[in-house]
Formats: sequence, structure tokens, C-alpha cells
Amino acid sequence: MNLEQIRQVVQVLAAAIKGLRLYPLDHPATARQIELLQNSLLPLLRNKKTIKLGILESTLFVEDYLFTQEFPAAQELARLLEAFDLVGLEFQAGLSAAEIEVLLELLHGGGGKGPAFAEELRRRKVEGIRAVTGEEEDDEAGEPRKVYRKALKVVDQIFHDVRMGEIPSSEEAMQVVKSMAQLTINEPHALFALSMLKDYDNYTFTHSVNVSVIALAVGRACAVSEEQLRSLGLGGLLHDLGKLKIDINIINKPGRLTDSEFETIKHHPAFGADIIARMDGVTQEVMDIVVGHHLRYDRSGYPDKARRNQVSILVDMVAIADSYDAITTLRCYQRPFTPRGAIARLREVAGTSLHPTLIEKFAAALGPYPVGSLVRLDNNEIGLVVKVDTTDPSLADIKILFDPSGQQLTDPYHLHLGHAQVRHIVAEVDPYSKGIDVTDYFD
Ligand SMILES: [Fe+2]
Repeated sequence: MNLEQIRQVVQVLAAAIKGLRLYPLDHPATARQIELLQNSLLPLLRNKKTIKLGILESTLFVEDYLFTQEFPAAQELARLLEAFDLVGLEFQAGLSAAEIEVLLELLHGGGGKGPAFAEELRRRKVEGIRAVTGEEEDDEAGEPRKVYRKALKVVDQIFHDVRMGEIPSSEEAMQVVKSMAQLTINEPHALFALSMLKDYDNYTFTHSVNVSVIALAVGRACAVSEEQLRSLGLGGLLHDLGKLKIDINIINKPGRLTDSEFETIKHHPAFGADIIARMDGVTQEVMDIVVGHHLRYDRSGYPDKARRNQVSILVDMVAIADSYDAITTLRCYQRPFTPRGAIARLREVAGTSLHPTLIEKFAAALGPYPVGSLVRLDNNEIGLVVKVDTTDPSLADIKILFDPSGQQLTDPYHLHLGHAQVRHIVAEVDPYSKGIDVTDYFD
């Protein structure tokens, strides 16, 4: 699902609800709005069985896209959901025009709030739409997604405060980092899989969350303590904070930087350190990460002043995470590396840019086909690695997306590759060659 499609769904839904203030439900203009909404949702529901739209602390999200920037239709929908005591709506495959009509009728004020709203949808046999109320939300989205979204929200707030010239509070960041560290201990691959989400519109803060998530995976692979995991998580979230103090045109410049632009960029670790030094609860290790995340393993890199300092090994872990996220991200000059390709690329710079032992531990923990890899099996089926066994990373759960003849399945199914492997992975497949976005298929 791309951003354009997400925006369109939100726009059309908001317009349909607005339209009801002008026209009754049986008016042709309303019927047209319903048709538009159905037309924008149905193609998306062919790939994904469910599309989730909801609010997180008053901000609308659709799937994993959080509308943190000005988008009036999203703000209207968020307000509307709140007014009905709903935290979300789920659209399911097979959604009909009649069901959309019932939804609009209820949103027009006919169906009570919260659980009563959800119950009314069920009573009227609407199977293609589910209203999510606050009470059930906690069990709904998987824990990793909830924590990931919360981290995005926290970073967005921190960035906002810095842009306003304020010193951000670290309280929420420390809280979310605690959950991230816990999750990484319990289900390391689940949170790591979400680092495949690259939201190009909100790249700066998505990158911060991803570096944090990946650094936690590196840390766990290297068996650091829980306290150090928290420092890794927080350091990852804050590592590029100093970039907010640098001319945005240099930060976003797509091509090669001039020497003087590069000199300017080199100030961001120190700028970041100035900010976090004034935040509560920032440990020396977090400080080291922010100052040193561009130091290379051979201690070239920048800032010059930090090269001779004794810095925490966590710095080298975040440097690995930073590189991993950068190379798995689409750039105008580079197609993203797949997870397996990214590990191979990191190994090429082991011993010069990056710490070789840490890379090997990280690679071993991810397994031969890391979660998020698209793979071909020996019977020619193609599927996505959605889960990797923590104790034996060569064992995985695959979601089969293409049958042996290359036909995309409308109903992907799960296959567990256990010790008694009936089928085997034979190769990795580039998702671009199959025209799919792997993040659409994580549960
Ligand atoms: Fe940086």
C-alpha cells in the first residue's frame, strides 16, 4: 500500500461523511461517494485481507502510516472517531456498498458510541467493517506494532519540541524504550521485522525509530544487559537529533554534498549532544552514541575530536544499525538491499567501517534468511519469512504468497519450516522483481 492510496482512502472517507451533512443517504450524490470509497478500498483489500484505520493519541493512522503532518481529512476523521469513542475501523475483504452505507449512517449519528456502535454494526450483519473500541484495542494490534507506533509518536514529539527550541522531555522516550527492550528480549525478530517499514514522507523520524529497533537487535545478539539495551534504544531514537539544527536543504539534498556542506553536516553529533545533555536520565552511554555514531570501527569518521576518546561499544552497535537501515532504504541512487543482501554488504566493510565481531553476532542471530526476506522454496513457491526461531534462526515461518506456477495467491497461507523440513528455502527473491511490498504482509 503506498502513501497515495492511503491518502486517497482517508480523503474519500472524510468526503463521504461530510457529504451526508448535505445530502440524505438515498441521494445519488451519497451513492456516488459510497461507490468512490468502495473503489478506493477494494483494490487494496485484494492484497491485504484487512485495512486498519485508527487513532493513536488523537493522530490518525492507516496501517503503519501516521498522519503527523497537516492533512485536514485525517484530522477530521480522527476527531470523528474520538467523538464516537472509537479507536479504529477495520475494513475487510469482501466489503460491500450496502455495508459502507450502514457505516456512514451510523457515523451520521444513528448508532450510539463505543461498544454500542460496534454492536450495532454486528447486529446489522456488517461483516466487512469492524469498529474497534478502546477496551479491545490492547489485544488487537500485536504488541510489536503498538510499541513501534508509540515510538514513532514519541520521536515526532521530541523533534517537534526541538524545532520549537525547547528541551524535550525524556520521560515518554524512556518508557517506550523500556517496552522496546522488553520486546526485543522476548520476541527479537518481531520488532526487528518492523524496521522494514520505511515511511519516506516522515523519513527522519522513521529512521530514528528503525535505528533504535535495529540497534536493539544487535545488542541482543551481542548479549548486552537490559540496562544497556535501554541505552541502545534511547541512543538510537536520539542519535540524529542534531540534524534538526542543520539547514534542511542540506539534509534532504539528494545528490552528492559539496565539501562545505559535508563540513556542516559533521556538526550534527555535537549539536545532538548539546540537546540531550539537557534532557533528564540520559546516561553517558547514550551520550557516547549520539556523539560517536559516525565514528568508524577504525576510528576514522567524525567528529575529529571524538576519535581518540574511549567510547562505549554500544556506539559500534548503533553504527551497524545506522548502516543497516540506510542500505535497506530506497534512495534515488540506490535500490534497497534485501536483509540478506544488507548483511553481505555490512560484512564487506567489517574491520574498516564497522565492528567485525559484532556484525557476525548480529548476522548469526538473524539467521540465513532474516525475517522480512522474500524467498523461493524448492517447489518454486515464493513466500515471506514472517518469523524466525529465536533459539535456531535457521527455522522459520513462511507466508506463502506465490504458488509454484508464479501465480499470486489471493489467500496467502503459513508454512512452518521446522527440523523435519518438507520444503527448503533455495534462494532469496528481490521483492521489487515481484512487485510487492513485504511490509503489507506482516501480521
Ligand atoms: Fe547521523
